[in-house]
This record gives sequence, C-alpha cells and structure tokens, in this order.
Amino acid sequence: MNQTLQLIANRRSLRAFSDEPISDETLETLKEMTLRAPTAGNQMFYSIIEVTDPARKAALAELCDSQVMIATAPIVWIFLADVQKWENFYSEGGSYAKGLERGIKVPEIGLGDMHLALQDAIIAAQNAVISGEALGLGSCYIGDIVEQHEKVKALLGLTPHVMVAAMLIMGYPKSKERTGKQSKRCPASAVFMENYYKEPHLEQLKEAYKAQEQDLREKHSLPDDNTGSIADRYYFKKHTSTFMAEMNRSAQTMIDEWKNGGKNGKSSY
Ligand SMILES: Cc1cc2nc3c(=O)[nH]c(=O)nc-3n(C[C@H](O)[C@H](O)[C@H](O)COP(=O)(O)O)c2cc1C
Repeated sequence: MNQTLQLIANRRSLRAFSDEPISDETLETLKEMTLRAPTAGNQMFYSIIEVTDPARKAALAELCDSQVMIATAPIVWIFLADVQKWENFYSEGGSYAKGLERGIKVPEIGLGDMHLALQDAIIAAQNAVISGEALGLGSCYIGDIVEQHEKVKALLGLTPHVMVAAMLIMGYPKSKERTGKQSKRCPASAVFMENYYKEPHLEQLKEAYKAQEQDLREKHSLPDDNTGSIADRYYFKKHTSTFMAEMNRSAQTMIDEWKNGGKNGKSSY
C-alpha cells in the first residue's frame, strides 16, 4: 500500500509516551507541516498554545477529568479558533475606521466567524496528527478541554473571540503500546450518503455499529452484565454522565461569551 495511506490506515490514539526527547528539528518540522493545513481564505483563523510548563500541564490534566497522561505528555498543544487576531488587525490597522468613513458599520464577530475558525483550527490539528505519525509521534485528542471553560480560560488567558477547538497530546510511544487491536469503524456504506441526508434508524444503526459492539462484548464492557447494547453503553456511560452535562454547560458559555463579549463588536461603536 502507498506509504501515506498505510500511515493513515494504521494510526491509532496513543496514551502512553516514552521519555525520549523530541528534537528541535522534529518539532520544527511538525509545526511547519501543521501550518500547511488548508485554511479559510488563507487567513489562518487559529492559534496554537504549546504548553511546556509542567505545572500547567498538571493543571490541565486535572481540569480534563484527571487524565494523568496529559501531565507526562512531551507535547501538549491546544488549538484555538482565533478571530481575536483579525479583530485586532482590522481595528488597530485602521480598517474599521476606514469602513466607518465609508458608512460601513463594524459588524459583529458572529457565529459564522466562529464556525470557520473552528474548522481552521481542527483541520490544522488533524494535520499535526498525521504529520506526527510520519515523524514517529503518536497522539491523542483530549475532548475534556471543552469542560470547565472558566478555569481553562483563566489558565490560558483566552479572550472572548478565542475559543478552544481541540487539544492534542503527542510523543513517542512507550514500547509495545501500539501492538494492541486497532479500534473498529462503521463501514463506509453506513456513513456516506448519496446526494441527501438519509436519517439512520435502529436496524441500520445496529448493523453499522456491529463490529464495535462485538469488540466491547469481547472485552466484557457492555452494561447489565454484558447483555446490554452499544447504545445502552454510551447512553449510560457518556450521554447521561456528569461530565457530559458539564461539557454542554461549558460549551454554551463559550458560545454566549463569543456572541456577547467582543470588545470591538457592533455595540461598542
Ligand atoms: C474530539 C475527540 C476527543 C477525544 N477525547 C479523548 C479524551 O479525552 N481522552 C482519551 O483518552 N481519548 C480521547 N479521544 C480519542 C478517542 O477515544 C479515539 O480516537 C477513539 O477511541 C478511536 O480510537 P483510535 O483513535 O485509536 O482509532 C478523543 C478523540 C476525539 C476525536
């Protein structure tokens, strides 16, 4: 198989890292390749916080549902949807003022801006994942970074039009970590839909997630003494969990602050 395809086909999340240091050269290459990701209008509506301070890594580990591997990961990157920088560029560079002279009111930084910036940041993150694999570095996304927005915001110094999009931890694998079974996926026929959305219902869903359910049953990881379904598992373990409730509250706050908190928004002109 083509080397790039092989790399993508074999990728899996890595959660245990070796102590092997990452050279400056490798890190530089990883950064350059990350930034080659496509970006809306080539504006690069994102920033990446590279967390190097061990105390901050430990604080993030705690904030992200006590996932201790964050504290020991050699690379901890937080991808931010960043419209703040363009807001500053427009305002400090005089574009807003020029627009006002021409009768153009300063528009709000809206949810469309937010969505584009989130796309930019997440696409860059996945470039980092694949480039990392090519450099021998494994990675794992940390979804819990979306929880506890207020604390994350304070720790990272975020402003209203800067939103956490994704978090990645990376490093060289600890020996043998990657020899385990790769996680299963739904077949392409269950995910791709031709021309329009076709709402999946029970029978198709059962078929789509059959392989994952089988793996979980083999690991005795299904509820009700392993007799429950994969849907039961995710419903009880994740969807109704306190961490999911917190993630929903936190994400709502992030969006509310984005909508209401912009210092250069329409309201201030
Ligand atoms: C948005 C997102 C959030 C994730 N959050 C976590 C996390 O907080 N902790 C973790 O151990 N893995 C996390 N993962 C990794 C997934 O569990 C993993 O990708 C999934 O189980 C499939 O396994 P694979 O990546 O090895 O193919 C996350 C992945 C994504 C894409």
